[in-house]
Amino acid sequence: MTQPRPLVAGNWKMNGEQASWKEAESLAGLLAAETAVRAEVMLCPPATLITSFGHQLEGSKLMVGGQDCHGELSGAHTGDISAEMLADAGASAVIVGHSERRTDHGETSEAVRIKAEAAHRAGLVAIICVGETETERKQGDTLNVICEQLSGSLPQNAKAGNTVIAYEPVWAIGTGLTPTLDDVGEVHRHIRAELTGKLGEDEASGMRILYGGSVKPDNAADLMAVADVNGALVGGASLKADDFWGIVSVYSEK
Ligand code: 13P
Repeated sequence: MTQPRPLVAGNWKMNGEQASWKEAESLAGLLAAETAVRAEVMLCPPATLITSFGHQLEGSKLMVGGQDCHGELSGAHTGDISAEMLADAGASAVIVGHSERRTDHGETSEAVRIKAEAAHRAGLVAIICVGETETERKQGDTLNVICEQLSGSLPQNAKAGNTVIAYEPVWAIGTGLTPTLDDVGEVHRHIRAELTGKLGEDEASGMRILYGGSVKPDNAADLMAVADVNGALVGGASLKADDFWGIVSVYSEK
């Protein structure tokens, strides 16, 4: 079976100002010069930068994504941004259900599903995040938690072309810790099986499942080589073009 094209996405979280454009520009330059990279590459900067990045990167291979969206099209939701607005600003994808949003903003899986549906409505790819806490892993609940989050967050008619799943163990985010390669493989295999049950073999086999949580240039090759890992969602190491490139180049065919 043909493997889906990998995706390496950088989540800048609440980091970056206009001057950070130079990092995006370097990355776009590296991508333009390097034809052997078979992964799609995306940056998800804070909302304040999406319009300028979207504009400046038009025609480039580097894609732009949002970090969150509201479920509604428009209306009285102070401080929120709709998926349509992200698309209008030049985004082609949006992260939904990141554990930091589930924790900081009490987002339930149902709320995440509504956001993913909004992304689809706006023509964006929804990058749906799932992941267990340290306690849940210690209690042996990892697969149940992932299964529950996936069931609640995945739109019924999700397709390989409009949905990406990101497995991000909460305890691995920003800590320098990563699960063993066997553990990563077990969770990704489980997610693939769940997707197959929900969406059928065709959509499930083509859907990208990213690993995220302390992905760095020195561990990316091992993590990306695990079966059913189709790319990475990268936090800290995506802020500097050189570091991020060290991860992206894992997918260089040279
Ligand atoms: P780090 O790569 O900094 O651990 O962050 C991962 C993450 O949360 C990406 O969404």
